[in-house]
Amino acid sequence: MVLVVVSSPKGGVGKTTLVANLAVALRRRGRQVTAVDFDSQNALRFLLAPNHEDDLGVARCTARGLPWSAALVGGIDGVRVAPYGEASTAERLRMKDMLVQEALSEALSGLARSPDEIVIADTTPGEGRMQERLEALADIKLIVLLADAGSMALVPTYRDGLMLRPLSERPDTFGVLNQVDPRRRLSRDIADFISVNAPERFIGVVHYDEALAEAAARGEPVVGAAPGSVAALDIDMIAGRLDRLTAPGSY
Ligand SMILES: Nc1ncnc2c1ncn2[C@@H]1O[C@H](COP(=O)(O)OP(=O)(O)O)[C@@H](O)[C@H]1O
Ligand SMILES: [Mg+2]
Repeated sequence: MVLVVVSSPKGGVGKTTLVANLAVALRRRGRQVTAVDFDSQNALRFLLAPNHEDDLGVARCTARGLPWSAALVGGIDGVRVAPYGEASTAERLRMKDMLVQEALSEALSGLARSPDEIVIADTTPGEGRMQERLEALADIKLIVLLADAGSMALVPTYRDGLMLRPLSERPDTFGVLNQVDPRRRLSRDIADFISVNAPERFIGVVHYDEALAEAAARGEPVVGAAPGSVAALDIDMIAGRLDRLTAPGSY
């Protein structure tokens, strides 16, 4: 299993959108992919398995002592999805408490069919304990940031300094700059600054693209719904880099 964890210091920046779209783009490149939702909003399944109605997800599985494979559903383009699922407050709290490091590692490895399978995790924003444990297990961490002043202000401090620490100390952490809009000066300047000053820190840029939001509103990932759109091409480029970084034998 190659574990890719997608997180962000702020909510609403495009994590779920990216997880769903990267999962599909990686499938289209021939990789086995399982996407896991760690966010109790349970939104990932709307994009990857829109017709699924079962209430059993990873939270309820954890609370009942079931393996997470019991929550797996078949999604778009052969992506497998382990939704967060419906969960009572008590079940959500048990999920947080029960998943100590080893149990979490075991639950995740139980999802993969082969050592090369990519397990991609969607998370909640912030610095919770579950987040810390997930990141400790991650092979690759993607941090989603918006090309705005608020996100950029967090760059030096978030996760021990995505940009400030020498690359050799954090070879597995990459930023993704989302919703870049070349018509807006600040957005353009931030994208330019990063491409000049920290290209190796960022795995890619995703432009602001209505096609992405429209596809999401229909419950589809944009790489399938509008394959020629700017966002679909951006996401496919990131998927290509992830595919190479996690090529069989790398982990
Ligand atoms: N590059 C983009 N262009 C246009 N809309 C986007 C883009 N990325 C995300 N969105 C929209 O932003 C909203 C929040 O995205 P979401 O993936 O739910 O964020 P998060 O999971 O970080 O809370 C969604 O409506 C999504 O469709
Ligand atoms: Mg989300």
